[in-house]
Amino acid sequence: MTLADVTYMPEAPAHDLEIDEINAEAFGPGRFTRAAYKIREGGPHDRSLSFVAMHGGQVIASVRMTPIAAGAGRAQMLGPLAVRPDFKNMGIGRKLVAMALAAAEKSSEPAVILVGDEPYYGPLGFVRIPRGQIEMPRPVDLNRLLAHEIVPGAVAELTGEVCHANLAKTPQRTTEPA
Ligand SMILES: CC(C)(COP(=O)(O)OP(=O)(O)OC[C@H]1O[C@@H](n2cnc3c(N)ncnc32)[C@H](O)[C@@H]1OP(=O)(O)O)[C@@H](O)C(=O)NCCC(=O)NCCS
Repeated sequence: MTLADVTYMPEAPAHDLEIDEINAEAFGPGRFTRAAYKIREGGPHDRSLSFVAMHGGQVIASVRMTPIAAGAGRAQMLGPLAVRPDFKNMGIGRKLVAMALAAAEKSSEPAVILVGDEPYYGPLGFVRIPRGQIEMPRPVDLNRLLAHEIVPGAVAELTGEVCHANLAKTPQRTTEPA
């Protein structure tokens, strides 16, 4: 097996079952108690910004993106990101993150946030969100709250409790182009 056998494509409903299996394998039953999971319960993820890696007709890795709101700010939340054990450390996770970020930028998303390991996501363009700026619906290690800004100033617009964008209480602040 080489990387040449791995293909990437936007996520489709036909991938759902395999993605659920991959996430169960990667995160176990504890995934349902995570803060990010709670936010994702609030509404659908955005398939147009979500991608899978395929090998031999099977899904071997997945990244999803979900629209979120925090105060007047809006962003996409990246995750879950998971790669089947047999395919780890081949660059597939990094490639999926890069694809999700490129798609978010192309569709003029203001920013991408996530809860994850800074040593992994830092080199992919994520930095810590200042402590206390946003709150997650369940406890998280604040060192793991990271953001990738696409539109300048967009991360500063994210304030207060993070929820699915469909449940936003505050209208989005729209910044006029300079
Ligand atoms: C984390 C995960 C998505 C990485 O995907 P991958 O395709 O195996 O990783 P890549 O090939 O893109 O990158 C591999 C590099 O990242 C490093 N890495 C992997 N997980 C890491 C982590 N949690 N923190 C820091 N570095 C990490 C590897 O050591 C490797 O480093 P190297 O290039 O210096 O050898 C994958 O291991 C996985 O599915 N893990 C279980 C689920 C999970 O933890 N998801 C992330 C949620 S935050």
